[in-house]
Amino acid sequence: MNAKKYKGIIQKYSRFLPVNSKTPIITLNEGNTPLIYAGYLSRLVGKNSEVYLKYEGLNPTGSFKDRGMTLAISKACEQKATAVICASTGNTSASAAAYAARAGIKCIVLIPSGAIALGKLSQALIHGAKVLAIKGNFDDALNLVKEITKMFPITLVNSLNPYRIQGQKTASFEICDYLGNAPDFQIMPVGNAGNITAYWEGYKEYKTQGLSKRLPVMLGFQAAGAAPIVRGKPINNPETIATAIRIGNPASWKNALLARDESKGLIDLVSDKQILVAYRILAEKEGVFAEPASAASIAGLLKLIKKGYFQRYLTKQQKIRIVCILTGHGLKDPERAIKTIQPPKLMRADFKTIIKEIGY
Ligand code: F0G
Repeated sequence: MNAKKYKGIIQKYSRFLPVNSKTPIITLNEGNTPLIYAGYLSRLVGKNSEVYLKYEGLNPTGSFKDRGMTLAISKACEQKATAVICASTGNTSASAAAYAARAGIKCIVLIPSGAIALGKLSQALIHGAKVLAIKGNFDDALNLVKEITKMFPITLVNSLNPYRIQGQKTASFEICDYLGNAPDFQIMPVGNAGNITAYWEGYKEYKTQGLSKRLPVMLGFQAAGAAPIVRGKPINNPETIATAIRIGNPASWKNALLARDESKGLIDLVSDKQILVAYRILAEKEGVFAEPASAASIAGLLKLIKKGYFQRYLTKQQKIRIVCILTGHGLKDPERAIKTIQPPKLMRADFKTIIKEIGY
């Protein structure tokens, strides 16, 4: 086999991961996602600034979850597990179902009934997971799977599983490898808070190893109706159109605060309206289609620009680099895209009418 061929994050970053020669590597060649320069957004921030989009929607199942899932499922197989389970707002279940299928083990997922995007549901189903829609929200589902895994030999693959975080931290390695250093700022959505935990661990580890020279300021954004960290208390009935981050009691709450405070960053909120504006700007001005939860990164960026947050850095005449994490692909939630835009105009199949309509 050609050692240079890309075979996923475990092979690429094995020296940073808890794997050994006996770990069976269950991979779909996840990771290695593009860091895309965003010209329109860079100009909005100002001169001397560069905005990049880490397009995690280009992972095999369409979200960043694959980075953590390749490791969680590989380790589960190493430990001879025969079944895995997760609670999910959609993406974790899609990823768990795919990697479990590849490993030939059973996958059970609990999802909040009626509250996950169509693409994600179709993925969990087609990969053959046992999908149970519960009459409750994500937090209820997570409590249930925690209880179940305490009593039965089923491996939990939510981000409470430490291998998930270990796998996900490879995204910060990729960003540093690409830019030659960590960015000045990183902006990302926060739901269950596993991903902000993972990125921060990754950045710290790379710096300790001498592979980057600085740490970024971590800027996290929650949806206004599901912002327990910002409000300082769990939310019983979280609500947002960004269903991926519709979470009222994040499992990694403390670690999110650690990332925020150690990096001198912030965790703030954006309204659904701001998320939808950002969702469209991203698609219309940058040509990148991300799901609504991912657009929370861009909504956060726009909010900070408006507040003049970056001004004090820009006036120092130094170049600033901002990386926005786009956690999931826009096709995950096609219904939202169609609802957000005017439906196509119905036309007679007539040459002249069409030409007139398109303005020629
Ligand atoms: N963006 C997307 C697209 C997500 O699916 C999630 C989480 C997040 C952001 C937030 O990441 O939870 O690590 O803070 N989705 C989980 C799921 C909860 O079940 O798919 P987080």
